Amino acid sequence: MKKKILSILLVAAMSVTLLAGCTPKKSGGDSGTDKKASGKTIGVAMPTQSSERWINDGKNMKEKLEKLGYKVDLQYAEDDVQAQVSQIENLIAGGADCLVVAAVDSSALVNVLAQAKTAKIPVIAYDRLLMDTDAVSYYATFDNKGVGTTIAKYVEEKMDLKNAAANKKSYTFEMFMGSPDDNNAKMLYDGIMEVIQPYIDSKVLVCESGQTSFEKTNTLRWDQQTAMKRCEDILSRYYSSKKLDLVLSAFDGLSYGCKSALEGAGYKVGTDWPLITGQDAELMACKNIIAGSQTMSIFKDTRTLADKAVTMVQAVLEGKEPEINDTKQYNNGKLVVPSYLCTPQAVDKDNLTKVIVDSGYYTQAQLDK
Ligand code: BGC
Repeated sequence: MKKKILSILLVAAMSVTLLAGCTPKKSGGDSGTDKKASGKTIGVAMPTQSSERWINDGKNMKEKLEKLGYKVDLQYAEDDVQAQVSQIENLIAGGADCLVVAAVDSSALVNVLAQAKTAKIPVIAYDRLLMDTDAVSYYATFDNKGVGTTIAKYVEEKMDLKNAAANKKSYTFEMFMGSPDDNNAKMLYDGIMEVIQPYIDSKVLVCESGQTSFEKTNTLRWDQQTAMKRCEDILSRYYSSKKLDLVLSAFDGLSYGCKSALEGAGYKVGTDWPLITGQDAELMACKNIIAGSQTMSIFKDTRTLADKAVTMVQAVLEGKEPEINDTKQYNNGKLVVPSYLCTPQAVDKDNLTKVIVDSGYYTQAQLDK
């Protein structure tokens, strides 16, 4: 009985928390979308302009929100945690009506988001989950574990891993994972491991450095130079008398770092170049895929993500219901954040034109330049 009362209280407390996060600062007038939007300012805090995808994310969000009549204050923190805290403080002080945040460090915004909650400013987590806070109402992202399984299943198929043992084949591999302060990075890693662990166990996949844990393979801030240096070090220490067959990279930026390291070590495209994965289908990555120096990437259509995030902004400000398709996976330590997960898609030279060009993400002219 006691247990039942406790769980009822818990559910009630969680709903209040969620509603508190959802309560708009100012109440709107009539129900016309444009009228409700007019005069309201959305603060959009993005992590960095060093990677193309976040530039597109910011641009898409700004365009879509402005089209609805909102004013947009778009900020980039250039991967500086403290700068992002200050930017969000300024957005709150400047009277933002709603915040959309893609964190540099997902756990570093607890205090500033508490300030937003006190000021009754609803917060939407954009692509990266905001951890350890009850100030967040909704989360728009991609299926982050799905990114990992999609990468690994691509490799499984391309390298014919299912038949490798029978064919007496084995491949060397190394892993370059994302930032430890980004919840997405660990989920992606888990997705990869779910698929490849049996091949590691059966020695079809052999990691010469032995570095396969998330702790050993993560890359702070998803930094290209850090990945390049780690790859150089691994190549010189473990691959002087062997070739590296597979680079499991969690992001195009890390793939560029590994590409430089491989070139430095004398690997040549078309002869001994390894299979290299990636994420984001950046323009440069797509060009590398065409040239053969990267094998695949994960296309995340940031236009769709922005659409979903915008419906969440409208929901918290105008009392609408956004579409949610996950209420289980994204526990941020304080609550399970209602989420919309967009679907990631693998791209390689065979489907690049169809997926990327035909959908208008990049033009053929951009790829040819
Ligand atoms: C995003 C990835 C991106 C990475 C580095 C992650 O949070 O989900 O799409 O590649 O950050 O910017």
